[in-house]
Amino acid sequence: MARVAIIYGSSEGHTARLAERMAEVMAAAGHTPEVAAAAKAPAPDGYDALVVASSIHVGHYHQAVRRYLRDHLPALAAMPHAFVSVSLSEASPGASGAETVAGYLHTLREETGFEPARAVSFGGALAFRRYGVLTRLMLRRIAAHGGLATDTSTNHDYTDWAAVDAFAASFASELERAEAPGTPAR
Ligand SMILES: Cc1cc2nc3c(=O)[nH]c(=O)nc-3n(C[C@H](O)[C@H](O)[C@H](O)COP(=O)(O)O)c2cc1C
Repeated sequence: MARVAIIYGSSEGHTARLAERMAEVMAAAGHTPEVAAAAKAPAPDGYDALVVASSIHVGHYHQAVRRYLRDHLPALAAMPHAFVSVSLSEASPGASGAETVAGYLHTLREETGFEPARAVSFGGALAFRRYGVLTRLMLRRIAAHGGLATDTSTNHDYTDWAAVDAFAASFASELERAEAPGTPAR
């Protein structure tokens, strides 16, 4: 069974929740996941696999995540890994959201040199109750533009949690197959 580091960048805590959820699924599959914020994350040595998750803020993934990717590029490329993107663009109806996320990933490649072996994208949250006044106003405008909820009296969760579970389960079984070559794929 694999030791999996799940490294995340999160401002309002939503991506941190995704990281914990993926860890629960991987633990249930028999692996040993460890979750850490990118700013304080251990180096990849000593782990068998790595998942890096980050939300987008103002068009960029978290600086600590970008730094982690840059600092550990060769080690990362040599081990099973995946990148998890969390954004409101992914949650916006229509094709332009997916195009925007593809653009974020392209910028990430340019900024860090990181070419994820596997990249998945999930909708994030509108945490209106956690924002200060200016951020709330800005996000309300972005939400209206993106066809998302504008009721600032409550938070809105756009994550497909079943899809998060499915991704974590599939990553976990890929690791099992890598550990037991010759085992037929399920
Ligand atoms: C100040 C701010 C800027 C944001 N900028 C973007 C953006 O440029 N594109 C996008 O798709 N989502 C954007 N978002 C949405 C976040 O990615 C989303 O709220 C996510 O769930 C935040 O996750 P976190 O709590 O882990 O940071 C922004 C959110 C905030 C609060």
